[in-house]
Amino acid sequence: MLRASVRALAEAKIAPHAAEVDERARFPQEALDALTANDLHAVHIPEEYGGSGGDALATAIVIEEVARVCASSSLIPAVNKLGTLPLMLSGSEDLKRRYLGAVARGDGMFSYCLSEPEAGSDAAAMRTRAVRDGDSWVLDGVKRWITNAGVSEFYTVMAVTDPTRRSKGISAFVVEKSDEGVSFGAPERKLGIKGSPTREVYLDNVRIPADRIIGEEGTGFATAMRTLDHTRVTIAAQALGIAQGALDYAKGYVLERRQFGKAIGEFQGIQFMLADMAMKLEAARQLTYAAAARSERGDADLTFFGASAKCFASDAAMEITTDAVQLLGGYGYTRDYPLERMMRDAKITQIYEGTNQVQRIVMARNLPN
Ligand code: CAA
Repeated sequence: MLRASVRALAEAKIAPHAAEVDERARFPQEALDALTANDLHAVHIPEEYGGSGGDALATAIVIEEVARVCASSSLIPAVNKLGTLPLMLSGSEDLKRRYLGAVARGDGMFSYCLSEPEAGSDAAAMRTRAVRDGDSWVLDGVKRWITNAGVSEFYTVMAVTDPTRRSKGISAFVVEKSDEGVSFGAPERKLGIKGSPTREVYLDNVRIPADRIIGEEGTGFATAMRTLDHTRVTIAAQALGIAQGALDYAKGYVLERRQFGKAIGEFQGIQFMLADMAMKLEAARQLTYAAAARSERGDADLTFFGASAKCFASDAAMEITTDAVQLLGGYGYTRDYPLERMMRDAKITQIYEGTNQVQRIVMARNLPN
């Protein structure tokens, strides 16, 4: 039922704007409005904090169905989960009440600030500093590649509180867009997910109350990694949705497009391509849902499953969208059809929340027993 209702909403309110959102690289406000009106913008927030209490599988299905029509829009529920999960995993009760409630009500989105210009795959090499000063923390530094930056009201920021301790000297904080000293870089000019703004976040001596630290001092890196264990499942779901959208479109096309006197879908060469695409997609879906179940239960093997689902589903999405472009031939290569957008959008799922090379490091260090 959830899938059917999100699909209907996505097709009615989000799909009609997807091409133009991509073309103009503008934020999909219609999607945010429609998702918020239906309590689907941050479906993972527990009911006790005013949310809809969707579990990890429900959240994956919402993201998947939105991504099926517009990958940029699917970053609304996905990044709201990424930004708030550090709070849900490690935050004080007071912080959770203040911020989770605000996100659930639709008062603002939440972004996640881990990466920096010199700290991408090597996240623990970050340089943004947080220094304690009386009843405040003062943050100073630059965060890069921040999804939905500038649109989001709230930011989870990882910063160094003890430079001598590498990952153990990193802490997590809540920063608000309106805090003095917060500003944003120009939007990155990207290959895909053009409707989701990616900007630098500048922290220029940003003074925040001491109680905005998330968890104990020095636990920020572990919180950031635990968060990614869960949210890599959401990127896998996004990849599934993009791939499903491409497969659905290509399937319809080959039944209508006629060459050599018949629909091209009647040729075995085309049928074999579709069979392979559907097979890879279903395998990716099963792994993603298995990972979602582990995320919900908090199983010990989630780290492996989150990384493997994200890696496998994103690689599958890249292959499936590329083959879908191929099935449309020259038409697939034009902006008159949605396939080239889907292929461009799929690419990011192999890169963000840890490149697929990093996922393999994570998997190798956490092989299942
Ligand atoms: N859960 C809990 N703790 C963890 C953990 C996890 N999954 N992973 C690591 N830790 C802890 C370790 O236990 C370790 O503590 P101990 O020393 O006590 O054992 C500490 O953190 C440091 O861990 P590592 O030694 O493994 O750290 P590392 O420096 O070797 O880095 C890495 C590991 C996996 C490569 C990590 O840096 C990483 O994941 N890099 C990729 C970063 C990334 O995914 N960025 C994505 C940005 S967000 C984004 O893209 C969002 C978006 O736009 C939508």
